This record gives sequence, C-alpha cells and structure tokens, in this order.
Amino acid sequence: MVHRIPLVAAALAAAVFGAVAVVTPPVYAVGASATAGKHADGTARGRYLIRTSGCNDCHTAGFATTDGKVPEKDWLTGDALGWQGPWGTTYAPNLRMYFQTIDERSWLEVARAREFRPPMPGPSLRAMTDDDLRAVYRYVRALGPAGGPAPAYAPPGHQVAGPVVVFPAPPK
Ligand code: HEC
Repeated sequence: MVHRIPLVAAALAAAVFGAVAVVTPPVYAVGASATAGKHADGTARGRYLIRTSGCNDCHTAGFATTDGKVPEKDWLTGDALGWQGPWGTTYAPNLRMYFQTIDERSWLEVARAREFRPPMPGPSLRAMTDDDLRAVYRYVRALGPAGGPAPAYAPPGHQVAGPVVVFPAPPK
C-alpha cells in the first residue's frame, strides 16, 4: 500500500509528459537536428502521410517495383507508365510540378471535389483531414519542383506509344 501512491504518481506523470510530448513536438525538436524545424510547418507529417499512403507507388517511377529504392529527391516526379482500362489511359502526374501550380486553399478544394480517373485512389485523398491535406501539400512544396511532365491522358480507343498496365475485365 505504501508503494502504490508513488507508482500511481509515476504513471500519471508518464501519461502527462507523454501527452505533452505528443502535443508539442516542435518544442522538443527545435535545435535537435537540422531538419527538426520541419515539424512546425507540417512537412514531417506530410512526409509520413506520403510514405504511408502509397502515393509513391504510382507517382514515382520505379518505386513499386524496387520496394521503394528511389531517392527522396526523385519522389513524386510522375511516371510514364500508363494505366489502361475502360476509362482510357491515365498516367500518374508529376506532383512536384503540380503543387507549384496551385495554392494551399485551392488544393483543399481540389482534393475534396475532384473526381479522379482510375487507379488514382480519390477516396483515400478525400478521407484525409484538412490538416493532413495541408501537410501533404507543404511537404511536396518543400521538396521543390523536379522532373518533367508525365504523358497526357488518352481517351478510350486512343493508341499510346509507351508501356501500359492493362486492366482486364473483372471476373464474372
Ligand atoms: C494506384 C496509383 C496511384 C496512387 C497510389 C496515387 N495516385 Fe495520384 N494519380 C494517379 C493517376 C493515374 C492520376 C491521374 C488521374 C486522372 O487522369 O484523372 C493521379 C492524379 C493525381 C493528382 C492530380 C495531379 C494533376 O496534375 O492534376 C494528384 C494531386 C494526386 N494524384 C495525388 C496523389 C496523392 C497525394 C497520393 C497518395 C495519397 C496519390 N495520388 C496516390 C495514380 C495514383
């Protein structure tokens, strides 16, 4: 019984300090490393979201087929691999360029309202909170522009020159 109070107090202190650390990461991060300041503007969160949401699988050439062995400086520069199905042929655009053409407020509107063609996971984007969408925006902006444009969308029936992944008809 004598030992219980200090134990409870320690647990409470851990919970409180743990909560403080989660709520205020910039306070601890500032000065800890050269990149720590990125926490404050959301880019670390954005990087985390990009990595866990699989955006690189399509928007970074070679990422999905090398288990992610593409340097970060080349991430999200788009891919010339086409995705072909009843919707025509789509290409994952260069997001490093795209995010230079749009301001943060417009990005939130686009992410909420735009209907993407397959296989872009529009529902995953729409399911993100405003804060997460802002973090994604800030991270990709912070990476800066790089690469060139991906091939343009081709409507159904149009021949395309480069490689394509053809979606077969779904099983009956
Ligand atoms: C399975 C492949 C795939 C994945 C995964 C994917 N995308 Fe896409 N994305 C595409 C394709 C294909 C398009 C083009 C869609 C169209 O033509 O309507 C696209 C279009 C976009 C566009 C429009 C860009 C422009 O230039 O108009 C944005 C923004 C975007 N994706 C962001 C993301 C983000 C952020 C993620 C991760 C959360 C992501 N995508 C994951 C395939 C993918």
